[in-house]
Amino acid sequence: MLPTIEWKDDAVVMIDQRKLPASEIYVSCKTAQEVARAIKTMVIRGAPAIGVAAAMGIALGMRRSKATGTKQFATEFQKLCELMAATRPTAVNLFWAIERMKRVFAEAAQGGCSVEEIRQRLEADARRIHDEDVASCRTMGAFGAELVPEQARILTHCNAGALATAGYGTALGVIRAAAEQGKKVAVLADETRPFLQGARLTAWELVKDGIDTTVITDNMAASMMRLGNVDLVVVGADRIAANGDVANKIGTYGVAVLARAHEIPFYVAAPLSTIDLQTPDGSTIPIEERNDREVTHVGANRLTPEGARIRNPAFDVTPAKYITAIITERGVARAPYHESLAELVNRGQEAGGRWQQEAGTRP
Ligand code: MRU
Repeated sequence: MLPTIEWKDDAVVMIDQRKLPASEIYVSCKTAQEVARAIKTMVIRGAPAIGVAAAMGIALGMRRSKATGTKQFATEFQKLCELMAATRPTAVNLFWAIERMKRVFAEAAQGGCSVEEIRQRLEADARRIHDEDVASCRTMGAFGAELVPEQARILTHCNAGALATAGYGTALGVIRAAAEQGKKVAVLADETRPFLQGARLTAWELVKDGIDTTVITDNMAASMMRLGNVDLVVVGADRIAANGDVANKIGTYGVAVLARAHEIPFYVAAPLSTIDLQTPDGSTIPIEERNDREVTHVGANRLTPEGARIRNPAFDVTPAKYITAIITERGVARAPYHESLAELVNRGQEAGGRWQQEAGTRP
């Protein structure tokens, strides 16, 4: 499996996703600040992956702390949580992971643990978040594969693969699981302007796995659907509101509307850590605006004239009414989503899954 992110000796190591597919270079972060920079600058990206990175970054930072008393240790911990929370605003998995680390800290401190014991607990939980993410992706894949017909031609947008998670992927996990069941799937990967996660990352992962992959530019999706070349769409998510509205990579909304116009099922695959029951609908999900340069340039080449204004919202919101089903590691939710999503999340809480919905401050 692809090593998206892992602990190696005293560092958190991640594959540099900005450099793929041209080169496979690994970035070794030795401090929490370096991890935060890696998230901000897209060395690592994808909602679940940045949650895992934030947890590991906090644990790494606390491992390096020189504090001897719990009070100073707690102040440093709080600062690191704020540092991570300021990296990217849309994917709720990042805030979910920070809240979970806060809970581990609070429980350990209240239980009278020493600084060293708190440190160990934070690191153990960061490792657990990583491993649980891979396990969720595999379970989600198994649920999702049931929805994939025998010789499906599947369109996906952005990269919701092993690179966007701790491993295996959400949308690509569904595709991988279907392929592992022996289904002859073929994938149409939207290139996903402006950062090209589809052309660079999704295609790279799927080709490596030997899955039939065709890259198309984003404006080809409509025609492909009209010509009957798409049986279903599956994408990931950065945040799912209580009513089922889904924030995901810019362009997802257009694909969903197209899928509805052509009567093609449109699935979203995401772990429960992406579901944000505290956000009632998509209208209040913060949408990250990224650097103009992602739009004005491809590599060193300028595409647009100086003086043209640029917009670069990195995400959009797909209204729940366009979504056929939401695939999670606890089952498949269908409309009405305000009921089915709450039921899935709360089922976990009853079973002791206390991490599902943490209260906390987040955008
Ligand atoms: O800006 P990015 O590359 O972090 O955006 C990623 C996406 O929008 C993914 O589709 C989403 O995070 C789901 S990843 C399993």
